[in-house]
Amino acid sequence: MSVLGMPASCTRDLAPDPQECDQLCPLQDSPVRMQQGSPASGQGCTHHFSDAGVPSTEPARRRPTILPLVATMLTARLSRPLSQLPGRTLNFYERENGTRRPLLCSPTSFDSAGQRTYADVVNPAGSKAVLVTGCDSGFGFSLAKHLHSKGFLVFAGCLMKDKGDVGVKELDSLKSDRLRTIQLNVCKSQEVEAAVETVRSSLGDPEKGMWGLVNNAGISTFGEVEFTSMETYKEVAEVNLWGTVRMTKSFLPLIRRAKGRVINISSMLGRMANPARSPYCISKFGVEAFSDCLRYEMHSLGVKVSVVEPGNFIVATSLYSPERIQAIANKMWDDLPEVVRKDYGRKYFDEKIAKMETYCSSGSTDTSPVINAVTHALTAATPYTRYHPMDYYWWLRMQIMTHFPGAISDKIYIH
Ligand SMILES: NC(=O)c1ccc[n+]([C@@H]2O[C@H](COP(=O)([O-])OP(=O)(O)OC[C@H]3O[C@@H](n4cnc5c(N)ncnc54)[C@H](OP(=O)(O)O)[C@@H]3O)[C@@H](O)[C@H]2O)c1
Repeated sequence: MSVLGMPASCTRDLAPDPQECDQLCPLQDSPVRMQQGSPASGQGCTHHFSDAGVPSTEPARRRPTILPLVATMLTARLSRPLSQLPGRTLNFYERENGTRRPLLCSPTSFDSAGQRTYADVVNPAGSKAVLVTGCDSGFGFSLAKHLHSKGFLVFAGCLMKDKGDVGVKELDSLKSDRLRTIQLNVCKSQEVEAAVETVRSSLGDPEKGMWGLVNNAGISTFGEVEFTSMETYKEVAEVNLWGTVRMTKSFLPLIRRAKGRVINISSMLGRMANPARSPYCISKFGVEAFSDCLRYEMHSLGVKVSVVEPGNFIVATSLYSPERIQAIANKMWDDLPEVVRKDYGRKYFDEKIAKMETYCSSGSTDTSPVINAVTHALTAATPYTRYHPMDYYWWLRMQIMTHFPGAISDKIYIH
């Protein structure tokens, strides 16, 4: 076998102690072994393998050793980007002459115990402006109130402001000059541009920009791929994904001026997929990709981009209600192509809907982990790239789904 194109050698010849090599070597009792230098000769094991896996008798000292070469390649590949980071260096042990030399750099945000550290917290007082979308209900509604209580100047985008939604009325009832509700459908460019103008004209000095944008507005749906119409796929992506992109692009000039923050509310389903949730998963995976690209691009401009990936808080928000599930189910069944209706059957369909109804009465009732995550992303000097406000079951599931081979994670959680 060959590693990185190099002639393969018996790894045992890396053993420092000939005795150890002798014990480990797979050829120790073979005739080939008998013909070659023995540990007793003091030269260590000299067994090598050709690309075809055939033992070769070429002496070890004449061949390049693989390990330093691989390390050199890794150094070349990693040290350039990492050397741009300030901080302590990692040392690389050079086997040949027994010395250490600097290999990589590590960022200063890690203390000597390897813990992540933060510089001073950003002070929201002084009316740092933040806009949150989807404040009629759920996380957005709580966030608007919480960020206001923290001292931010909050613009609460509400889908139903012009219809006098209860959430809007409650926010307005605070009668604070630091909390303004604005009519905002993230799918409508005119409303987004009007929101930009409202914020710009409210800022003391628009050239200093606005501090934060929280892309929270979202919708969800369910149903197998074969049950889901193309219109539904588009509708969900229009709000969750394109709404996020539209808002971000429109507000970035103001955010850049303040070297501020963009916080995108994704979901655990933006990291791991789930059966019967494909429209939602697609949109949230898109939000994750968009956030990563934006974070890379904004780094040099001082804008920090974070993603918040809530777990299951269904019961605590208005994302689903039993009535909504029933309405979606009825429309879905009516719109199904005849062949799908016939092949799956009503029983299977009803079982799936019942499962969804059970899911919708589950989840954490306490949304504070999500609210705290967004607040940290807005106020910490060094916010996290990703926040995972979710209970332990979902956290573990997400780790397994994203790190284990599919054959294993599918077996554990899906099949
Ligand atoms: N709840 C969870 O378990 C959970 C888990 C992971 C991620 N999330 C995400 O968290 C975010 C907030 O959802 P939530 O759970 O708080 O549900 P929610 O209570 O339904 O809040 C979503 C908000 O977005 C608004 N909205 C819908 N379409 C909009 C549009 N086109 N333009 C502007 N606003 C719009 C909704 O307004 P209306 O109420 O008037 O429709 C609602 O106020 C979403 O992005 C969601 O995907 C939620």
